[in-house]
Amino acid sequence: MHEGMEKGFKRTLITTALPYANGPVHIGHLAGVYVPADIYARYLRLKGEEVLMIGGSDEHGVPITLRAKKEGITPQDVVDRFHGIIKKSFEEFGISFDIYSRTTSETHRQVASDFFRKLYEKGEFIEKVSGQYYDEEAKQFLADRYIVGTCPHCKNEHAYGDQCEACGTSLSPNDLIEPKSAISGSVPVLKETKHWYLPLDKHEEWLRQWILEDHKEWKPNVYGQCKSWLDMGLQPRAVSRDLDWGIPVPVEGAEGKVLYVWFDAPIGYISNTKELLSDSWETWWKDPESKIVHFIGKDNIVFHCIVFPAMLKAEGSFCLPENVPSNEFLNLEGDKISTSRNWAVWLHEYLEEFPGKQDVLRYVLTANAPETKDNDFTWKDFQARNNNELVAILGNFVNRALVLTQKYFESKVPARAELTEYDQQTFADFANVKEEVERLLDTYHFREAQKEAMNLARIGNKYLADTEPWKLAKTDMARVGTILNIALQITANLAIAFEPFLPYSMQKLNAMLNVEPLGWNRLGSTELLPEGHQLNAPELLFEKIEDTTIEAQVQKLLDTKKANEVENYKANPIRENITFDDFTKLDIRVGTVLECTKVPKADKLLQFRIDDGLQQRTIVSGIAQQYAPEELVGKQICFIANLAPRKLKGIVSEGMILSAEDFDGKLAVIMPQKEVKPGSEVK
Ligand code: 2FM
Ligand code: ZN
Repeated sequence: MHEGMEKGFKRTLITTALPYANGPVHIGHLAGVYVPADIYARYLRLKGEEVLMIGGSDEHGVPITLRAKKEGITPQDVVDRFHGIIKKSFEEFGISFDIYSRTTSETHRQVASDFFRKLYEKGEFIEKVSGQYYDEEAKQFLADRYIVGTCPHCKNEHAYGDQCEACGTSLSPNDLIEPKSAISGSVPVLKETKHWYLPLDKHEEWLRQWILEDHKEWKPNVYGQCKSWLDMGLQPRAVSRDLDWGIPVPVEGAEGKVLYVWFDAPIGYISNTKELLSDSWETWWKDPESKIVHFIGKDNIVFHCIVFPAMLKAEGSFCLPENVPSNEFLNLEGDKISTSRNWAVWLHEYLEEFPGKQDVLRYVLTANAPETKDNDFTWKDFQARNNNELVAILGNFVNRALVLTQKYFESKVPARAELTEYDQQTFADFANVKEEVERLLDTYHFREAQKEAMNLARIGNKYLADTEPWKLAKTDMARVGTILNIALQITANLAIAFEPFLPYSMQKLNAMLNVEPLGWNRLGSTELLPEGHQLNAPELLFEKIEDTTIEAQVQKLLDTKKANEVENYKANPIRENITFDDFTKLDIRVGTVLECTKVPKADKLLQFRIDDGLQQRTIVSGIAQQYAPEELVGKQICFIANLAPRKLKGIVSEGMILSAEDFDGKLAVIMPQKEVKPGSEVK
């Protein structure tokens, strides 16, 4: 029985994170959210359950206004363009939304405004006036990320208003020394402004009970992140912003203010349900027999597990989600996917370059899904999984079963004579496939579930290889018939088991089998195709992907890397010449690392004890994200010996360790090529 149904649920509402409409969607989106959600929705529908799958574009927020500014167009132009591209990509990948709408819709404006107003009227917000940075030249308040200045901890001059990337400290804009607007470069002024805050601290107690006690079954990555947030203690969160793009705050005295994008976006799930089902939408959100499941990526966990539930609870009439299956991230060829660096496989480009191969990408992304940890997509793996699994196992088996039936029985399902022990064993081998795949899908283990389906094809392949019906055709046609009947029953089972994963290919397979979709509940049956049933002509389900195709994709990525490097060079050109005297002012020496430890409460800092040839000295360096402390103990490094001492996180650092940093921020500590005496000069 389905997990949800055990708890007495009658229907399942599946929501998928609303992607920002400030760029197209890529394989990371598909792998993290939309393919798993689609598998789940298709599976439940196949079982005959009542399901809705809700999606849409997230069209508010600062990144959209910035893109518009950069391109000299309006934010509406930006979202109109990308909403169309995103929606089409999802459609073509078979993501079976019941609705895919957008947060600039009129319904959404109304629903989100009503939601805010209700919380406001119930006294669920606190109002606070605070000083916030304002750019007088650009005539706007500045989001934290758009204020830059000097970090009070490490003196890095390019720290952002929310974080210093050099020492990893979380900041607020008020912490910055000499803050500047990233928009106009002018010095921002502090200006008083009123905002509405959701007092998350007031919700902490029930959230702790609801997540940490009542939902221990949530995936460990989700549960763990919630626990660490709750253990740190929750703070009130502003739900309005001073911005001219978004849904106006619908109360008096709020001119020029809009709802914070993370307040309105999740309400988008509700508005899109309402847009789809004008009358009955409330049943899906308010009847305790509705099971709500949010599919999201890991950067959205806190909003879906803490903030949105607090909003729903404060409103009072909504159900809370039953589960929030969140994935980790998918990397591409070893590097983080990045829209701004164009480091991605874009779905609209894939569709053009691999026409008709949607299922191949769906398969590979599920086989390699970042379910428990970040994972890597490589084109070599894509090719291998296509050629060695889809073609060589699934496609090959199905094709052999159909081609042999065509050859010996004019594509009619042959009769089954007496079964051998081996035949019976083969049936027994997949008797529990339904139970197994269901258990995995009900608990959001999509990767394992797909593997289980592929095992069924492996069983089929082995059965044909062992029984070799082609060798018996001259002597024992009754036996050939039995073998092919069994192979065809396995094929029909595959058409059911793979339908949630590979919908296009299974549609093709159903057509070849000349059946309507067989329905999930018959999975595992050995009587799916009756004797004499007429099959259609076999076609190949999958085709081999050649090396040249893969090489072209790899080359495309190498070209992107090259182009990024040129861009980076332009943005970071060689500085103007200095004299030799200038150079000799720098005293660079070799030292030996005696000890190395992490600096508490600073993600990026390591503290070194160095033998500099004469004595020992302490140096603090921002390389903790790339080196474990023990990796460097005993190594020789180069450091600036005459840099004036400075305090980092309360520790006096006497020098600076030299490392090379590439344009992606990857660091490598500079070490002498052979051992020299500590204190040796570097010149
Ligand atoms: O991270 C993102 O892409 C957000 N636009 C997700 C929003 S999910 C939901 F709240 F709408
Ligand atoms: Zn810093």
